[in-house]
Amino acid sequence: MRTSIAISLIVIAASIAGCDWMPGKPTEADKPVIQTTISNFHTLWTVHCSGCHGADGRWGPARPLNDPLYLSIASKDYVTEVIIKGVDHTLMPAFAMDEGGPMTNQQVKDVVDGMWEHWSNDAAVKELDLPKLAADLGKASRGKETFATYCGHCHGQDGNGGKAGSVVNPTFLALSSDQALRSAIICGRIDLGMPNYAGYSGGHLHSKRSGLPPLNDRQISDIVAWLASHRMEYPGQPYPDTTTLESSLSDASTNMNQ
Ligand code: HEC
Ligand code: HEC
Repeated sequence: MRTSIAISLIVIAASIAGCDWMPGKPTEADKPVIQTTISNFHTLWTVHCSGCHGADGRWGPARPLNDPLYLSIASKDYVTEVIIKGVDHTLMPAFAMDEGGPMTNQQVKDVVDGMWEHWSNDAAVKELDLPKLAADLGKASRGKETFATYCGHCHGQDGNGGKAGSVVNPTFLALSSDQALRSAIICGRIDLGMPNYAGYSGGHLHSKRSGLPPLNDRQISDIVAWLASHRMEYPGQPYPDTTTLESSLSDASTNMNQ
């Protein structure tokens, strides 16, 4: 009896409050303030990008962007588009307000201009015969061999990891676009010691790369195709193969009927 009175009181109180209160529900005062007037590159970078691409553009979980090689082959238009729309099915968010993000188009432009102003260095890459940042997938069967020659001594001949981590892990592949794989092969990881397409890291040719020519566009596309061929439909779910499960269940029921 008491409980039902208590419940009615709660119901009445909730209807007076307009039913808009729930524990933990953010109020107007809790909403983040979107700073649309900031134009300083370092502030915008720190607020919006550094958590993933690293403070000062390096040493983050996502690829370094403070990289003259990357900035010499990426166009400002492409980078602007990525920031505005994000990259579907990955952790790269859409930043433009039109897309539900926190940045004005002017701020996107300020970040892009700032990246080039502070981090590009065309003189550092002028001797190199640069591959294209974007291209279609190549042939996985050719990529397998090229991978073993160029990448196996760090990532393992089959890609499952060695000195450096696995690059064929289905969960990793589910979170990375083909473009991210291609960017990694071309630019390496300037912050983590992975050499670029020409075998250089930190200005030095990697010892295992002497005698090997730089990777060309076709070889890069082939390696991306081979890595991408390891994608699976339901990554991170090592459920048993249901066909064998079903046959073992029917075996079990046959045994029971005997
Ligand atoms: C929550 C993490 C996160 C934040 C925050 C973030 N990024 Fe990214 N970004 C990523 C990931 C992950 C990728 C790779 C996506 C893929 O697989 O293609 C990426 C990709 C990119 C690329 C394309 C790289 C390529 O391979 O060509 C650019 C350019 C970029 N981000 C710029 C930015 C800028 C500028 C900001 C800040 C305004 C930012 N990102 C904020 C995670 C993030
Ligand atoms: C000298 C060692 C070395 C070689 C050679 C090398 N890598 Fe890496 N690679 C690394 C390291 C270190 C990382 C950072 C993550 C880790 O430790 O696994 C990395 C990261 C990556 C990533 C993830 C990129 C990211 O942004 O997180 C991919 C994809 C990759 N390598 C592919 C390749 C491919 C393909 C080749 C051959 C063309 C190659 N690597 C050659 C050392 C190497």
